[in-house]
Parts: sequence; C-alpha cells; structure tokens
Amino acid sequence: MSSGQKWKRSRHLLTPAFHFDILKPYVKIYKTCADILSENLNEHADTDCQSKRETNHPYVSAVQDIAMTWLLRNKSPWLYPDFIFYRTKQGQKFKADCDYVHKIAEDIIDKRRRELESEDLSHKRYLDFLDILLTAKDESGNGLTKEDIRNEVDTFLFEGHDTTASAISWILYSLAENPECQRKCQEEIDKVISETKSGRLEWKDLGKLDYLTECIKEGMRVHSPVPGVSRVNTQPIKVDDVTIPPGTIILINFYALHHNPTVWGQNHMEFKPERFNRDNSEKRDSFAFCPFSAGPRNCIGQNFAMSEEKVVLASLLRRFSFSLDKDHKVDKVIAAVMRPVDGIKLYIRSRDN
Ligand code: HEM
Repeated sequence: MSSGQKWKRSRHLLTPAFHFDILKPYVKIYKTCADILSENLNEHADTDCQSKRETNHPYVSAVQDIAMTWLLRNKSPWLYPDFIFYRTKQGQKFKADCDYVHKIAEDIIDKRRRELESEDLSHKRYLDFLDILLTAKDESGNGLTKEDIRNEVDTFLFEGHDTTASAISWILYSLAENPECQRKCQEEIDKVISETKSGRLEWKDLGKLDYLTECIKEGMRVHSPVPGVSRVNTQPIKVDDVTIPPGTIILINFYALHHNPTVWGQNHMEFKPERFNRDNSEKRDSFAFCPFSAGPRNCIGQNFAMSEEKVVLASLLRRFSFSLDKDHKVDKVIAAVMRPVDGIKLYIRSRDN
C-alpha cells in the first residue's frame, strides 16, 4: 500500500527474497501442502463431495470477509465515513477481522525474531523473506520499523495465498470444463514424474511441464485472478487527444484486456491453452497478457506464484480427475481477487479407480 520513496526502499530490500535460489527449496513446501490438500480431497473422492463442507482456517475466512466487506463498502457511499461505517455491524466485524489478521502477522514476526536471536545467520545458506525483513538495512544502516515489517508481512500473507488460491481454483474449474485439456495435462505430468529419479517433481522438472503451463496461463487469462489495479496519476497523462489531469483515479482492467476480441478473437471466453504455445505467444504484444501487472510495480511474487501453481496442480491432477457439477451455476465477483459468488463445485475421482 505504500508509495514513493517508502515503496522504493521496501521493494529494493525485498527483491533478493524472490531470487530463484531462494524459491527452489519452496518446491518441497508446496508439495507438502499439496499432499495435505490431496489427503483432504481424497476423503471426498468418489463420494458426494457436497454432503460435507470443509471449514477454512480462521485467517483465510477473515481475509475473505474483509474483502467482501471492502466490496460492500465500495458500493455503498453512505458507509464511506469512518464514524458511520465502524458503528455498523459490518464495520465492527471488519475491525475485529483486521485486528485478528494483524495479530497473526505479529505472532509470526515475534516467533521468527526469537528464533533469529538464538541463531547464527552465517550458517544459513539463504535468507527467506522474513529473515530479510527483520535483518535488512538500507545504505544508511536503517532497518524497517516494527510497523513497516507488520505491513509487509500482512501484504505477503494476503497476496501470497488469496491470489494463488483464486488462480488454482479457476484453473481447476476450466480443466474440469475441458476434460480433453485435463487429460493432456495428466499425460504430461505422468510422463515428467516417471522420468524423475525420486518420483517427485523438483525445481528443474517444472520447466518441462509445457502444456500445464499453457493451461495455467490460459486459466489466468480467462478468469484473471487479480482482475485490475488502480493508480492515482501524479503527472498529467496524454492518451491520444485526451489529457488525464493529475490526481485522477485510474483503473487498469486486466480482465477486459484479457478479453479484448481484437487480440483474443471472438472466442475469447473459450479456454484454448494453445493460445500460449510458443508460436502464438511470439506473435502477440507482450502487454496483451498481464496477470501479474507490468512495470516497476509488477508482482514481486510472480515466479513464486507460477511454481506454486505448477506444483499444486500437478500433484492434484496426478492423483485425481475433476469434473463439473453442471447443476451449480458459477458466477464471478471481484472482491480484491476474482472470486466465485457461491463457490466452485467439482466432482473428484481418484485416478487409480
Ligand atoms: C496467481 C497469483 C498472483 C497474481 C495473479 C498476482 C498479481 C499481482 C498484481 C496484478 C500485482 C500488482 C498490484 C498493483 O499494481 O496494484 C501484484 C503485486 C504484488 N504481489 Fe502478486 N500476484 C500473485 C501472487 C503473489 C504471491 C504468491 C506473492 C508473494 C509471495 C505476491 C506478492 C505481491 C506483492 C508484495 C505485490 C506488491 C508489489 C509492489 O507493490 O512492489 N503476489 N500481484
């Protein structure tokens, strides 16, 4: 949420946390998490998955509720003044959810701070994001303040889970809707895994999942997990013969960009992964597809996100096949990320059966 010099300094301090060498060991962590998810799904495989409802972690539920209330407040000008909003039921719940989310971030920071105090960092080969936040100093030897650190951890906790959860869910939805594409992904995943020594995907294998990568990109085009960003211009901007005065709120709509019929054709709503094969990608303007935004303020976690999506989807598709519940209508709502109005409901079948 910061801007100007403050943003520049944080971005500079944190960029090393997303170096490939730091991301590599995360493959194991994504895999462990994907296995837990698979075990949870396995309980429902080949049964009526809708008869049981999973409950979210309270952190995930709080973030979802915050986003929905943010949407409600945006649409309700009478809730704009704080002295009204925080007197309403939603405002009070919003405040309690924010306090809870902040508390989780503070607990994580305190725990790592204690660990760092009792640890010799010189033995650590790579410092992860939290190590960097807690130890980083700029050229003048100043570290981040307690509040700065909390704000960064909040951003990463939110950006790091809600976005990829949206992307993975919508991609699975499209794969369930397009069984032929799903089958091709499974064939590719089976082949790549069968060629590994350990029987598990490692960092170097992720680059071999070409077709899955096409499906991931196409899913992020069709559904645009982060549908747009906004900016306030500090300088006048001239677009053709229109000048936008400084101080204007400008919305950059990635969802519309990803559905521009001039670029994507009249069938832009259809899921066609081949749009992202090498030939087709080379023919297109590189700014036609911007799920992670573009420019200096683009997504710092995009390589992290892509590798997480590959590992999680590969683990799920290796074990299960997914099909649509055709009786359940899936509508979209933008609440920070692209969410389904009433969930996405898929049937899960174990592939061993
Ligand atoms: C599919 C997953 C993701 C998508 C689609 C996505 C998309 C985006 C977009 C569009 C922006 C630009 C926001 C703006 O300009 O206002 C952004 C910024 C950001 N993203 Fe992501 N993101 C994803 C995953 C992640 C992950 C996994 C992390 C962290 C581990 C992350 C961390 C960030 C951060 C910290 C920023 C702010 C960067 C800055 O302001 O310099 N994102 N993301």
